[in-house]
Amino acid sequence: MNTTLTENRGEGLRLIDDAASVTPIVKAAMALNDDPRLKQIVDAFVDHAHAFLREVKLTDQEFERGLQFIAAVGQANTDSHNEVVLAADVLGISTLVTVLNTTGQGDRTPGALLGPFYRGNAPECEGGADIARDGTPGVPLFMRGVVRDTTGKPLANALLDVWQASPVGLYDNQDPNQPDKNLRGQFRTDEHGRYEIRSVRPAGYPVPVHGPIGKLLAMQHRHPYRPAHVHFIVSAADHDTLVAQVFADDSEYLETDVVFGVQRGLVGHFEWHEDGAFPWGDGAGPHYTLDFDFTLAAGTPTYPTPPIA
Ligand code: BEZ
Ligand code: FE
Repeated sequence: MNTTLTENRGEGLRLIDDAASVTPIVKAAMALNDDPRLKQIVDAFVDHAHAFLREVKLTDQEFERGLQFIAAVGQANTDSHNEVVLAADVLGISTLVTVLNTTGQGDRTPGALLGPFYRGNAPECEGGADIARDGTPGVPLFMRGVVRDTTGKPLANALLDVWQASPVGLYDNQDPNQPDKNLRGQFRTDEHGRYEIRSVRPAGYPVPVHGPIGKLLAMQHRHPYRPAHVHFIVSAADHDTLVAQVFADDSEYLETDVVFGVQRGLVGHFEWHEDGAFPWGDGAGPHYTLDFDFTLAAGTPTYPTPPIA
């Protein structure tokens, strides 16, 4: 039970005397929190944040600048741009949360950060459909594979929510030349757990740098690029939802992804075919194929909230 200042009078007022006395007083003020998980998180946050301030001996000017930076990150957010997610991504926070939550669960496919470009409500597509709409120019890419559980059993009717950048490295919402929801789609696995998706090969791209995060990257002499990849959210009844990205094995920036998204188990082989019939049998010519299977851990499905509209 928390005691008030008045009740404490016998031992002398519990007031701040020095830097060391601040943290216990702050934590005591939070002791009444009756949500144990919230208490654990906020207590640890206060401990670590105060330890950080002691370690770097933050000056008043640096504190002011830090607050201005956080405010600018929030102010850069719009319905179509999420600078807050971008901030968590370039600091490695999103990847660490994902890795902490997707490792140590057997042979499941590792997760990757969601990123700021997931929009939700993608068009529902038949197996094999092309998500490159209205003749989006690019080299055809045929993606296929099987969704399984950790025992190897194929999962029928699993949902794959897929999105990717165009061959010039832009998402539909960044590019007036693409139709709305281009290069996005929702697919279901068949009775054998198989999926097939047609698209065009995406390019790697720079993350948005018009806001405070772009300024931070420039000050740190960091490039803003991501390797070429396709995003997937794979979900099925009674399984943990997998948020993943599959990276092209021949892409630049695999080792220096600005948002640290590339896990070893998420690099897929984009096989180049100089010529020959398309795998769906509906044409021929130069194309890529990507064969990539997903393994879901048992669990309760959840679904991420889209960071943009
Ligand atoms: C993305 O892959 O869509 C992405 C991830 C992090 C920052 C920017 C974009
Ligand atoms: Fe992306």
